[in-house]
Amino acid sequence: MNLYLTLFSFCFLAIMAEAASEIPEKFFGKYDLDRSENFDEFLAAKGVSWFVRQMIKLAKVSKVLAKNETPGKYNMENLTSKKNTLYHGWELGKTFEAEGLDGVAHKITFSFKDGVLSEHHIRLNDPEHSAETYYYTIENDQLVMKMVNNGITCRRWFKRSTGKK
Ligand SMILES: *[C@@H]1O[C@H](CO)[C@@H](O)[C@H](O)[C@H]1NC(C)=O
Repeated sequence: MNLYLTLFSFCFLAIMAEAASEIPEKFFGKYDLDRSENFDEFLAAKGVSWFVRQMIKLAKVSKVLAKNETPGKYNMENLTSKKNTLYHGWELGKTFEAEGLDGVAHKITFSFKDGVLSEHHIRLNDPEHSAETYYYTIENDQLVMKMVNNGITCRRWFKRSTGKK
């Protein structure tokens, strides 16, 4: 009897671990930036000048998170008026190299843990000081992005896009 219980527990844990390595369906879609909290403070703490902050704050941002055509792979797009970054075909927990919004090569890793999707960036030209992580959750059907720097937490809310995909 004990053996069955042990086996059952193993299977249960294995299934849970498997489930946690996938991005839940509710995350997928296209989202438009709606509002931000502490974004200016966050950028200022990172040493971004006033003028550049005004430009960044005015920028429209949309995000697309989707399943890739290859099972187990995903796509994330960051669409802005100035530049789009399209990261297609990545897997959770596997680091890849791609160009960042700044035009520099980044090492990027997406992970999913405890209901939170994280996007980790390191700039290859400054690996020591450039680590940045974006955390995404779905709250009230909105995509919430969280960033933390120097003790300042910034959140940005994205609404599901009403335009066509
Ligand atoms: C997406 O674009 C916005 C607006 O330009 C930028 O602030 C943000 O860092 C970009 N995010 C990523 C992950 O590249």
